[in-house]
Amino acid sequence: MRLGVNIDHVATLRNARGEPYPDPAKAALEAVRGGADLITCHLRYDERHIRQSDLASIRAASPVLNFEIAVEEGALEIALDLQPDWVCLVPERREELTTEGGLNLSAVPQLETVVRKLREADIKVSLFVEADLSTLEIASQLGVDAVELHTGRYANLSGEQRDAELIRLRTAAARCHELGLGAHAGHGLTLDNVQDVASIPQLEELNIGHAIIADALFRGGLTQAVQDYKASMLQARRHLG
Ligand code: PXP
Repeated sequence: MRLGVNIDHVATLRNARGEPYPDPAKAALEAVRGGADLITCHLRYDERHIRQSDLASIRAASPVLNFEIAVEEGALEIALDLQPDWVCLVPERREELTTEGGLNLSAVPQLETVVRKLREADIKVSLFVEADLSTLEIASQLGVDAVELHTGRYANLSGEQRDAELIRLRTAAARCHELGLGAHAGHGLTLDNVQDVASIPQLEELNIGHAIIADALFRGGLTQAVQDYKASMLQARRHLG
């Protein structure tokens, strides 16, 4: 299973003081040293964390880059120029603190064109979606390479509700496999809740940001924090052989 480390919040910290540090590209290098298989970053319309001026150095520091953008012409042009390995298309609401839900695939008219242009440029495409079976059918018809299942609800629930959400994620990942869609997951994952998600057999990749960057403060730095997350994920999959 691959670990994608989202470095957005290294830039959040930098931007809080208007200083040039900490540098998200340097964080990408540290994350890779700790075992990150890919680096993820999200360029938002307001550049509240990653800025366009960060992209070249992040690209250079990332063995595999997963670039999150909204389904929008300007962001598409930037992606085509950057040539990341993956683009993950996400919904973006201006007032939200973080990505709040999955894409509503039937409500984004430009989606088909954006997916086609990215794939023509040899960029793999994933769609950030809820673990909803009818959404997966539409994703499959769009011809994307993968979906990233939104784990935010799972992360915010507890007890029986969390168990039910985990079953929804399991069912969705199994359906992805049947449809030939890559299955990724992310949002709200922490060292305390990552193992149940990591143990879902069909999931190939987890993208984790905020908690890893926060844990880096208390777990001996970013490289060590990434190592701890990767070890925890792999431990959760030991029973899969
Ligand atoms: N995946 C996607 C598509 C996201 O938008 C985000 C948040 O930027 C993440 C994963 C990472 O979420 P978190 O920072 O809560 O780990």
